[in-house]
Amino acid sequence: ATPAEIRHLISIKDLSDDEFKSLINRAEYYKKIFKSNDSTELQKQHLKLLGKTVALIFTKRSTRTRISTEGAAAFFGGQPMFLGKDDIQLGVNESFYDTTKVVSSMVSCIFARVNRHQDILNLAKDSSVPIINALCDRFHPLQAICDMLTIKEHLDYENNKLKMAWIGDANNVINDMAIAALKLGIDVSVATPPGIELEREIKDAGERVAAENNCQFTCTHDSLAACKDAHILVTDTFVSMGEEFAKEAKLKQFAGFQINSNLCSVAAPNFKFMHCLPRHEEEVTEEVFYGENSIVFEEAENRLYAAMAAIDIFVNHKGDFNSKP
Ligand code: CP
Ligand code: NVA
Repeated sequence: ATPAEIRHLISIKDLSDDEFKSLINRAEYYKKIFKSNDSTELQKQHLKLLGKTVALIFTKRSTRTRISTEGAAAFFGGQPMFLGKDDIQLGVNESFYDTTKVVSSMVSCIFARVNRHQDILNLAKDSSVPIINALCDRFHPLQAICDMLTIKEHLDYENNKLKMAWIGDANNVINDMAIAALKLGIDVSVATPPGIELEREIKDAGERVAAENNCQFTCTHDSLAACKDAHILVTDTFVSMGEEFAKEAKLKQFAGFQINSNLCSVAAPNFKFMHCLPRHEEEVTEEVFYGENSIVFEEAENRLYAAMAAIDIFVNHKGDFNSKP
């Protein structure tokens, strides 16, 4: 395939609703296989990347994304290759283009965690293998696949009308999560502090997807209104990686946005609390984070199956969403 023909996983908004659903279904399938003792099936999966490598170009720290990606590569028999910011010449001492050409000539795919979305686009433009966005400033598609699988398991969005409330910042995680939920017909209410808005492109895409799927998409600065009758409450750190210099100002801006028992009291009975992690106390109290409504650790485990689904569809099956797992 020429670079222009390769399917990459850059953001959820690039996928059709059916493509996105097939990623969730595949993640669900691999969760079952991984937990089974079906050695025939496990061996069959293990041959898919045998003798191949999976590059992880990560310029930021990671626990879940790194571990799930390395685990998923191993599951398919591939060798993960972690390339941190001090390991390779990504934009240092060599052009970004040259590094992209060289790395992609030797690996089966590249998982990339970078600061700038433009770096993901640059990789995708010149790579000869699929690029999987492992988080950039604007998107986090692997998290959205995992989160929707987790919601499917706990709240069965196919048979229940659900509302998801996001209380937090407006960047990578919610940009993909909002579109993901709307693709599944889940109502989405995004509450951000005054002065922080979802970007125009996400609002427009969200409104389009909501209209197609008969669901509500609202953006507000009123966290209580967002949480009212919500089945899912979700947040993320208020200080993203790379923003540590602005920590004090951001924490001031987010005053009153902590998910606590007050916000939870207006949510639907038996609501679920979700968080992509890493977590800090300013965005959610201990009581909620470790409480009986919290599904954060199951959510974290599901990252593994999301990575398996992404590798299987984008790498093993070269972007064929109708392929069999
Ligand atoms: N949720 C998530 O992406 O975690 P890491 O930053 O630890 O990979
Ligand atoms: N918004 C967070 C997500 C971490 C998984 C960040 O960018 O640091």
